[in-house]
Amino acid sequence: MTIQLGDTAPDFTQDSTEGPIRFHEWIGDAWCVLFSHPADYTPVCTTELGAVARLKPEFDRRNVKVIGLSVDPVEDHRGWIKDIEETQSVRMNFPMLADPDRKVSNLYGMIHPNADDTMTVRSVFIIGPDKKVKLMLTYPASTGRNFDEILRVIDSLQLTSEHKLATPANWKPGEDCIIVPAVSDEEAREAFPAGFRAVKPYLRYTPQPAAAAPTA
Ligand code: BEZ
Repeated sequence: MTIQLGDTAPDFTQDSTEGPIRFHEWIGDAWCVLFSHPADYTPVCTTELGAVARLKPEFDRRNVKVIGLSVDPVEDHRGWIKDIEETQSVRMNFPMLADPDRKVSNLYGMIHPNADDTMTVRSVFIIGPDKKVKLMLTYPASTGRNFDEILRVIDSLQLTSEHKLATPANWKPGEDCIIVPAVSDEEAREAFPAGFRAVKPYLRYTPQPAAAAPTA
């Protein structure tokens, strides 16, 4: 089954470096980034896992749980994590799913047989607190991912889930946003008190609204 944006992310129970994980329950009310690695003890993956461990405070700040996946067993993950910590100078601070039976890889379509029969590609799924798939990325094994871009997309997704806004090309937090076409000028004046600038009737910019105060 092919997963598409807006689908409910398939639920599963699978072993991980932090014990068995019941996926939806584990996500709880948070956002989630699920990302796959072709195999343990591979160089690009080693750098990716180090990069994500270093960015963990940034994911936490956004209420995002991160979870890796590789098709090797949990004992292999444990040995590899020692290498990651040694070579990347970080403590691994998030779980890695062990998927030797390919249960999760197959559920999420992470194995692309024309690229490789057994290893997963580098998939990224961003899943919302409603358990719906908000973003999917697929990279080849040879290209390490840019996790700053993943954080940027999360900022956009979280903003646009609260406001009738979209974010333009290369947008970064703090920059002007785009008012979605379904909002009339009259509605926009009410919804965006900072005002807006209409370059074309369909291209209207407004300052990014302030983030809502976190609830206790
Ligand atoms: C890597 O993670 O380094 C890698 C894995 C498979 C093929 C090429 C690179």
